[in-house]
Amino acid sequence: MAKFRRTAPVAAEMGIIPYKSENGQWIPSPFAGNGWWTGGFWPALMWQFYSAGRDPLFLTEARRAQALLTGQFRVFHELNHDVGFMYLLSCGADYKLTGDEQARTDTLHAASLMMGRFNPAGFIRAWNNADQAGYAIIDCMMNLSLLYWASRQTGDPRFAHVADIHAHTALREFIRPDGSVSHIIEFDPETGRRVRELPGQGYALGTQWSRGQAWGLYGFTLAYMNTRKPEYLEAALRIAANFIAHIRPDGLTDCDFCQPDTEERLDNIAGAIAACGLLELEKLTEKGEYRQAALRLVDGLLDRCCDWTDARCGLLTHCTASYHDDGAGRHTNITYGDYFLVEALAKLNGTDPMLWI
Ligand code: GLY
Repeated sequence: MAKFRRTAPVAAEMGIIPYKSENGQWIPSPFAGNGWWTGGFWPALMWQFYSAGRDPLFLTEARRAQALLTGQFRVFHELNHDVGFMYLLSCGADYKLTGDEQARTDTLHAASLMMGRFNPAGFIRAWNNADQAGYAIIDCMMNLSLLYWASRQTGDPRFAHVADIHAHTALREFIRPDGSVSHIIEFDPETGRRVRELPGQGYALGTQWSRGQAWGLYGFTLAYMNTRKPEYLEAALRIAANFIAHIRPDGLTDCDFCQPDTEERLDNIAGAIAACGLLELEKLTEKGEYRQAALRLVDGLLDRCCDWTDARCGLLTHCTASYHDDGAGRHTNITYGDYFLVEALAKLNGTDPMLWI
């Protein structure tokens, strides 16, 4: 927290939402400005710290970033299914921690945008390109929490119905027999029939992009926490078993569990996300093996991949956005890695405000 007390004012001075940090500087997203899917994690990090100590510096910084994010409602055609990540963890967190009514309204606005992406053929459309009308991705399991939240807030079950329809499609089409998950499935947008799997951000078609595995693990866990439907817990446990089998001896996480061993490529964000999901699974199942696995991941990150110095603004190193595309960051500090590491540490400390539910 002390490090971010020093570096949050740097972001405010720059007037940006940090995406990553390099060479002693915060760097904004290289894509889509404040509309990039990661924009909510910076205010979410601020809300985690605010929740822990009620330091107004973090509240002020979260709301500064939120003003930039809600400005994106004016150009909503750029937004996609990631409005869950963007607004539940920012405006939704604000409402949860402060009761601010405008923050609640903004979060409901985001949920309405998410509803507009639902294809009644059975899935929530991920992205906006004209040739992607049938694309759905595993990451969306995390965004469903926004819809469950909106149903609880409004008393209107439509949001949760849509989340459940998408989650059942994901159960059927994304989870493989070995407990791994696909990243992208294309459906026929007219009929909902499965067309094909695409390789996405992993090494190759049919491999196991580790962050996708983590999104599936934590996403189905959250779907269970939101609904108590046993099929979601069963899915989360299958994905968790596969993830745990691939944790490296040093506790760090390969970018793809099937990547060639000729070159080291890590994505520690995946390990941090999975640790959060595993800690929730331990509470739900009362099985210590999930906590042990989470501790292996968190210890690996703390022992080997945290930069506590002021040489860089952020904390977690060796984060990789995508196996083949280094443009969004490879083996660097990326803000959502910091967010999930801090969330995992808060869970271990018993102080997590649980911003997803
Ligand atoms: N949700 C996009 C990613 O994990 O890169």
